[in-house]
Amino acid sequence: MAEASAASCACSKPAIVPGGPLPEAVVTLIDQVVTRHNAEPSSLITILHEVQEAVGYLPEEVLEQVARRMEIPLADVHGVVSFYALFSMKPKGRHRIAACKGTACYVRGAPRVLERFESELGIKAGDTTADAEFSLDVVRCLGACGLGPVVMIDEDVHARLKPDRVPSVVKRYRSSKS
Ligand code: FES
Repeated sequence: MAEASAASCACSKPAIVPGGPLPEAVVTLIDQVVTRHNAEPSSLITILHEVQEAVGYLPEEVLEQVARRMEIPLADVHGVVSFYALFSMKPKGRHRIAACKGTACYVRGAPRVLERFESELGIKAGDTTADAEFSLDVVRCLGACGLGPVVMIDEDVHARLKPDRVPSVVKRYRSSKS
């Protein structure tokens, strides 16, 4: 399984070493976010979303700190993170690929498009390439069902994508600097 290490990330997100202490900047960030929402358990989704936006993902150490700071069971935090697809406990790539496998896209060939992305990138859905360039996820609907199969890469919508176009699409993002 290819998995990027946040500790070696060249981006501006704080580096988190698995199993190690959280960087002070992350502890402070969590404290600020939780304080802003008065540590309200009903704001847990918003809090996790804001922390993920800042950190890039939600590793175990971050979930533990959120639970500690909010004085709620860690199981509650895990429950929310595992329920909502928008949360990830793994680092994401510089380019985020979301392949729709909703019904409309599925019947138009989404599984073959997804397989082509997996073989082209050498990873399975849910993973990130070793060079942290791409992460690949499956989503249930992107709200553009008439354009299926639909794949979003970063903010771009790729409509009616055919498997044989996947290599050139990947190549375009691989060489882009954004
Ligand atoms: S099912 Fe794919 S966009 Fe709706």
